[in-house]
Amino acid sequence: MSRFNDYHERRNSSSIKWDNMSEIYNIPDTSSILPMWIADMDFPAPPVLADAINERLKHPVFGYTFPNDEVKKALTNWYETRHQWTIDPSTILFQQGVVPAIATIIETFTEVGDKIGMSTPAYPPFFNVPIAQQREIVTADLTEKDGAYAFDFGVLEELFQSGIKLYILCNPHNPAGIVWSREDLEKLVQLCIQYDVYLLSDEIHADILISKNYTPALSVKGADQAKILACIAPTKTFNIAGIHAAMIVAPNKDLYTALDLNAQAHGVLSLNIFACTAVKAVYTEGAQWLDELLSYIKENMQYVSDELNAIDGISVVIPEATYLMWIDYRGTGLSEQDIMQRLLTKGRLALDPGTKYGEAGRGFLRINVACPFETLKDGIARFKHALL
Ligand SMILES: Cc1ncc(COP(=O)(O)O)c(C=O)c1O
Repeated sequence: MSRFNDYHERRNSSSIKWDNMSEIYNIPDTSSILPMWIADMDFPAPPVLADAINERLKHPVFGYTFPNDEVKKALTNWYETRHQWTIDPSTILFQQGVVPAIATIIETFTEVGDKIGMSTPAYPPFFNVPIAQQREIVTADLTEKDGAYAFDFGVLEELFQSGIKLYILCNPHNPAGIVWSREDLEKLVQLCIQYDVYLLSDEIHADILISKNYTPALSVKGADQAKILACIAPTKTFNIAGIHAAMIVAPNKDLYTALDLNAQAHGVLSLNIFACTAVKAVYTEGAQWLDELLSYIKENMQYVSDELNAIDGISVVIPEATYLMWIDYRGTGLSEQDIMQRLLTKGRLALDPGTKYGEAGRGFLRINVACPFETLKDGIARFKHALL
């Protein structure tokens, strides 16, 4: 029996996923709605995390702290062993999260009114954060054929020609679950060099690999000539987003210095005691837990694919990465408003509508399958009930 089969009640635990749906979906009573939307798993973190935090709690003083060499060693070892990527510890800057890291990078390297580029569909903060900082968003759609997404480099080059200052990449990609190839990344890096554009590579989903190995943007040919900032974190991998921890890797010294100055300007004090403890623990001892998790998620995905592809007008492919699936319902002829209405009122199921990821997401829904199998079965039954 897998440890991931165990159900843990999360309602009334101040969980955004379970307790904040009224606000998100504008429904007063969400007590019977099953949430399968935000990228937050219904699984407990690896037990090493609670052990490490309990151990830390035995020390009664909680003074100022910092991510020491052991924390850095744990994370660089993880990337070395898991992804064959050597990170120089002196190039790491700590942040409260990847979204705060994105905000910091945009603030540091671009000005009000500058153009920020991205390919759509895209993770919503990629546009919300720059817009809140009064930057202009410029998008280029990825191409899509039978659920497979790709860059159209001609279209992408036009985006670069439009005068963007920074391009935000999602590597691996949320919501489409793509693991970008080394070749694609090299071409992208070349464009960044040619048009003198900063590359922000959000690599938060790097560990949730379903069928392909991921390539860090900073490891490709040409990366040392480009202005690349990679954002990494253990929070998706180990389901510890509420602990808040992320890192920017900035091997380019000028970029590192600029980010460090920005941190000083805002009085940013890197990570708190629990985050330091957590990062060290999960990166040191979380590998086996993650391997088990990935097998479990693969089985869940197979189930969703078998069940949903049997419904007329619905198609879904198993992604290369992430625990999210991108459901194509264009064949049903339903509008987004109709399908969301049916899912929420008849099915009592909360999924993400595709346009949350930009207009390119119209006709799609995002479902999070990182939950116990019984919960997943319930969710799929609700989906069918809503549609059939
Ligand atoms: C691509 C991507 N970046 C960042 C985040 C959130 O990062 P954080 O919680 O560290 O701010 C998510 C969460 O779903 C994500 O999918």
